[in-house]
Amino acid sequence: MRLNKYIASAGVCSRRKADELIANGNVKVNHAVVREMGFDVGEGDRVVVNGKLIDGSKPKVYVAVNKPMGYITSMDDDKDRATVAELVADIPERLFPVGRLDYNTTGLLLMTNDGELTYALTHPKHEVGKTYVATVAGVLSDKRIAQLRRGVDIGGFVTSPAKVKVIRQNPRSTVVEITIHEGKNRQVRKMFAAVGNRVQSLQRIAVGDIRLGRLKEGHYRKLTRNEIEYLKTL
Ligand code: URA
Repeated sequence: MRLNKYIASAGVCSRRKADELIANGNVKVNHAVVREMGFDVGEGDRVVVNGKLIDGSKPKVYVAVNKPMGYITSMDDDKDRATVAELVADIPERLFPVGRLDYNTTGLLLMTNDGELTYALTHPKHEVGKTYVATVAGVLSDKRIAQLRRGVDIGGFVTSPAKVKVIRQNPRSTVVEITIHEGKNRQVRKMFAAVGNRVQSLQRIAVGDIRLGRLKEGHYRKLTRNEIEYLKTL
């Protein structure tokens, strides 16, 4: 197996991060530093990352977390803010988030120690659809809905076609469900800003077919075998 893939699938980190570690000389195979991502790891090889021996046989854990507001999607924070790591602190394996949600966004965040799956799910070439419920200020006109569906310019990047469905609206605000296929920074907020409606609150309710459902805020659940199989087919 390729060295970067081996490190990611052992649950150390994502494949991208593994590439960095290898390039920076933090990885040894059988006591020698290896800087080649595609180095072929064979059975019985000892792979050491940052001085620690990697165990490729660790169980894989996949969870859905309902992220509350005021948590950052990171495993630690230099400003001492609450992190999503705290929401899964009772799971012994070190999990990392699949993609990100903003500090103020709530809802479904997948977390796993399967770096290969994380890599596949967040790869820009085949990003899975993500569905959000946004409450935006004011009325969302049909013209704006059509713009969002076609794609809007969010500062040098034009979004791909989105699904948009108004759930309810009054003169002061609109609740809308939107499905996007990319994961640009603050993408949904920027998309609504681009058509002139400020996002007041944002919740992710689905990643592909995996749904938040009735999971309580701040809680997690293990994904079912079917859900894990489904994610692996994406
Ligand atoms: N889009 C946003 O603007 N924020 C998120 O957290 C996710 C998608």
